[in-house]
Amino acid sequence: MRTQVGIIGAGPSGLLLARMLQLQGIESIIIESRSRAYIEARIRAGVMEHWVAELTDEVGLGARMRREGLVHDGLEISFAGQRRRIDLKGLTGKSIMVYGQQEFVKDFVAARLDDGLPIHFEAAGVSIHNIEGDSPRIRFTDKDGAPREIECDFIGGCDGFHGICRPAIPADKLSIFEKTYPYAWLGVMVEAPPSSDELIYSSHDNGFALHSMRSPELTRLYLQVSPDEDLENWRDERIWAELQTRLTQDGDWRLNEGPVLQKGITPMRSFVCETMRHGRLFLAGDSAHIVPPTGAKGMNLAAADVKVLAGALTDFYKSGDSAGLDGYTAQCLPRIWKAERFSWWMTQMLHLSPDGDGFDRRVQLAEIDYITGSEAGARSLAENYVGLPFD
Ligand code: FAD
Ligand code: DHB
Repeated sequence: MRTQVGIIGAGPSGLLLARMLQLQGIESIIIESRSRAYIEARIRAGVMEHWVAELTDEVGLGARMRREGLVHDGLEISFAGQRRRIDLKGLTGKSIMVYGQQEFVKDFVAARLDDGLPIHFEAAGVSIHNIEGDSPRIRFTDKDGAPREIECDFIGGCDGFHGICRPAIPADKLSIFEKTYPYAWLGVMVEAPPSSDELIYSSHDNGFALHSMRSPELTRLYLQVSPDEDLENWRDERIWAELQTRLTQDGDWRLNEGPVLQKGITPMRSFVCETMRHGRLFLAGDSAHIVPPTGAKGMNLAAADVKVLAGALTDFYKSGDSAGLDGYTAQCLPRIWKAERFSWWMTQMLHLSPDGDGFDRRVQLAEIDYITGSEAGARSLAENYVGLPFD
């Protein structure tokens, strides 16, 4: 098999890259280690920056998102017995779109398969070769057990944090920066109407909690827990008690409860691999960087890399101009580091540090009071949250 761009991974990065290339007449093949059912059921991010929603429209796949997605003009921050609203729209002129990542994945997979374009699901033993040469190769065993090799011009390394593409870059060429946090998120998907029209980020003396949603019938909730926490210790009754305590900070307001459909624990990490290109391999999305989820930046940052990469590949194929490919990393990194900074900042401002003392907590509450009480503070949060402009 031969193609122009071999794409490893059918997450948001790989699917969006394939779609943007397709619209420019550039061929690609996607190789995905999981099944279609698995990637379509995997619950992850929920907030799209305004421009990611617009890009989804531009690539022709925004119809269901516009019907079912929820446009939010603001969010709330709860702390010290009160809740304050950040008017995202009023402060920036922009809104965010609440639409589950797996819905985005479903829309892109369906469109690609309807167009008769290839996604090799359940590929085993995926490996990449000759990335420093002119025609890199991808090898894998397909779902029927047959060995396959794809020769391509370029490889899109869109295989997430635990993929094989980043480790294929020689260790002495990798430039990596990372940070781990002394907490994790326990997330639950609940069959209950959201208890508020907007997201609520809550900084409580028991720890952080977040109220989000997926639809008028589905609530998504998160609790700060310890990174070595065992899900077995969190029966539904304990989860509800803790969510009610952390989110109910003003008056009579109560969280709507309902059956817990899914629960899981996500570790928190900041990670940047500044080597986003090696030879003909280009990393995009979580394969190159991870943010803690507090700023809702993970999927948005993946889309930002892909926008740059798709543009660079288009220039190369249309006019032979490789300046965009050569400048890929330099163009992506400033935005990545701003999202890393914002996610780190939101995380440390809102979570309870197990090593912190009374002084640290009071400084934290003063910062939240300032950010939510000053227009300059709120604007800084809002412009990062809705998505910084592209240079
Ligand atoms: P991924 O979505 O990870 O996609 C990579 C794809 O590559 C996957 O389909 C994987 O199966 C496939 N793959 C991996 N290895 C191979 C291989 N060897 N061969 C072939 N295919 C391979 N962000 C938020 O903003 N908010 C959240 O609440 C949030 N929750 C998250 C929860 C979890 C558990 C995780 C892991 C991430 C979460 N994120 C969240 C981050 C966000 O979901 C990611 O930033 C986003 O998925 C990045 O997209 P991606 O396509 O780059 O990577
Ligand atoms: C969601 C996840 C986030 O990380 C966040 O900051 C806001 C919302 C969500 O899953 O809905």
